[in-house]
Amino acid sequence: MKKITIAIDGFSSTGKSTLAKQLANHLGYVYVDTGAMYRAITFFAMQNGYITSDYFDKETLINSLPFIKLQFKFNPNVGFAEMYLNGENVENQIRTMEVSGNVSRVAEVSEVRAKLVEQQQDFGKEKGIVMDGRDIGTVVFPNAELKIFMNASMETKAQRRFDELMTKGQEVTFDEVLKNVQERDYIDTHRKDSPLLKATDAIEIDNSNLNREEQFQIVLDLVNQKM
Ligand code: DC
Repeated sequence: MKKITIAIDGFSSTGKSTLAKQLANHLGYVYVDTGAMYRAITFFAMQNGYITSDYFDKETLINSLPFIKLQFKFNPNVGFAEMYLNGENVENQIRTMEVSGNVSRVAEVSEVRAKLVEQQQDFGKEKGIVMDGRDIGTVVFPNAELKIFMNASMETKAQRRFDELMTKGQEVTFDEVLKNVQERDYIDTHRKDSPLLKATDAIEIDNSNLNREEQFQIVLDLVNQKM
């Protein structure tokens, strides 16, 4: 059967990665979580003291980019590819509130975006890929056969993210999570380089009132039409 490229974009915590993983598993496609790549660069910058909540040494981060190696390695125990930064598994470290608090500022840097977009396009050369992020249908794969744009109410997004952090045992309040999701959505949609935008040919899904299975079936129908 013909292999296609599936681009999933949308706001923070709209369940993009859940849907992308379901689709990739079902279709036998590669799944790439591009947010993990921006998070890993942010974690690198934090580890090296280039960024804190009120400081950002962009130039030094830009000069360090050639020394940052990002890889995805499939972990059969969890069923998806985990993020490695310079050979170290950082899957857990990149999901903290601290990284979430800094990542949108790192994602504004054009040099960071150029490096990651190049790597993402390389991953998708053979098609048969599901990639999620903010600029996949607009910048990374403007010719993707299927583009989905995901949205949900602010309350739904914050509640999902809060539940996820709780299951990981992180100490955060709902209000902190809500503020972080609002801030990230604002920066992601207002940045100069590759802002979060719905591609003109993307299909929008608001999943505030859909469960995982309902959403999966809707998208699977769209996939089957394209294939
Ligand atoms: O998908 P996520 O929440 O893990 O993404 C983390 C941040 O990375 C998000 O706030 C914006 C940025 N990002 C981006 O700018 N472009 C992408 N393709 C993916 C993520």
